[in-house]
Amino acid sequence: MSRIKIFDTTLRDGEQSPGVNLNKQEKLQIAKQLERLGVDVMEAGFPASSKGDFEAVKLIADTIKDVSVTGLARTVKEDIDISWEALKGATEPRLHLFLATSPIHMKYKLKMTPEQVIEQSVNMVSYAKQKFPQIEWSAEDATRSDWDFLVQIIEKVIDAGATVINLPDTVGYTTPAEYGRMFQYIRGNVPNIDRVDLSCHCHNDLGMAVANSISAVENGVTQVEGTINGIGERAGNAALEEVAVALRIRSDFYSDETGLKLNEIKRSSDLIAKLTGMYVQPNKAVIGRNAYAHESGIHQDGVLKNPETYEIITPELIGVTSNTLFLGKHSGRHAFKDKVNEFGIELTEEEIKEAFGQFKQLTDRKKEVTDDDIYTLIMEIKTEAAAVSKYKLETFQVHYGSSDIPTATVSLQTPEGKSAQSACTGKGSVEALYNTISTLITEDLELLDYQINSVGGGKDALAESHVQLSVNGEIMNGRGSAQDVIEASANAYINAVNRYIIMHQSTKQNEKEKTPIGSEQ
Ligand code: KIV
Ligand code: ZN
Repeated sequence: MSRIKIFDTTLRDGEQSPGVNLNKQEKLQIAKQLERLGVDVMEAGFPASSKGDFEAVKLIADTIKDVSVTGLARTVKEDIDISWEALKGATEPRLHLFLATSPIHMKYKLKMTPEQVIEQSVNMVSYAKQKFPQIEWSAEDATRSDWDFLVQIIEKVIDAGATVINLPDTVGYTTPAEYGRMFQYIRGNVPNIDRVDLSCHCHNDLGMAVANSISAVENGVTQVEGTINGIGERAGNAALEEVAVALRIRSDFYSDETGLKLNEIKRSSDLIAKLTGMYVQPNKAVIGRNAYAHESGIHQDGVLKNPETYEIITPELIGVTSNTLFLGKHSGRHAFKDKVNEFGIELTEEEIKEAFGQFKQLTDRKKEVTDDDIYTLIMEIKTEAAAVSKYKLETFQVHYGSSDIPTATVSLQTPEGKSAQSACTGKGSVEALYNTISTLITEDLELLDYQINSVGGGKDALAESHVQLSVNGEIMNGRGSAQDVIEASANAYINAVNRYIIMHQSTKQNEKEKTPIGSEQ
């Protein structure tokens, strides 16, 4: 078996998903989980794009020691210098440079000739090499590029010092057979290709990102790039958990394996879904809720007789544990702390105290407290800590019935620390609540999406709400949980506004706006 490297870009390409905006602490939390999962490289962000990204990449590079941390940069000196400042504390500083090579990108976006693209790539790889021991160079839109042009430029950037060559399917256009042939061609025609890692990076516009990645593996790549849960621009990136599990389950067919600890997949997927607000579809391969459920009688009968009749993957393989009662009314702080450690989430003493208090309250109201409940509760505390609440829900009341006009009364603590009250009606209870909260908030708010889920089963399950708001025209996600659906809904709404305020506070300090990736070099 040969070992394929896994390059995770959840924190960069994944974070480019519409509406996803993670703060520094949330990114660090994900980075720590990716380290536990065993990825080889993690792309922590795009340091030159904003102060927020710079700080997050720096924090991750300075903290994560068992994984090579990288950051994306355009092939310009300024990006390379900024990236060095962010990444120099990493165990093995690694830079990810990219420049488009397809005719359409070179002509219309870059307004550069192919010769200029070669020159700029070579110059900037050489420049970066003075600082970075590891340099990945990506030919953006490689799958719509001329293969002979790729051969030419790749040979030169390797000579200039690149250690990884990545050929992305930027627009999710290729097919498994075509992508495989492209790698064969590059391996057969670039004389110095054996000096570097060859990498694939697939987008899912035609639903083939994972299949294309696997085809690339069959055709000699040594690194696969992707994200957990397949999140990313447009239709997303290749889902790394699917690639890793496919290689493991079909090890009779494939001769490559990854170093991922597969039993950390579920936890990684859950954490990323909760923090990004991008929940996984129930029928998603490998990690969907229904991936291990058998509905038809014939299937159930078969599984009871021998699980392998219809189950090719066991839930245990990816770390799904039976979500049974584990702690109760009489459990002490010690047992609670052990549980938190088991989740791999780091809490401060203050946060443990708060979480334990909330857990105790929950045991009064809920008969069976499950792992999922505890996890949700901790995530709520982490969210609050990261958001350093600007608006805070003090009290609320909602009246509604089949013959009443739904009415909400809300008391909110404002960023200035004052208490403000209001009451409004709506067509439903949630609308009444949101109308009321909106009158107490100075920002211009529009609700774009609203979700409410139960955590686990049972009538007394915790509620978890996720919203997408337009806050002064900017899309923000928010989440909140509580035992009551209305309270969870209020928390999620306020959380989205708080995230907007915090994001803008740091932008204001910096007075530097995010540079859109793919903008002119
Ligand atoms: O999809 C893509 O081309 C990218 C590059 C920046 C590597 O994400
Ligand atoms: Zn990409």
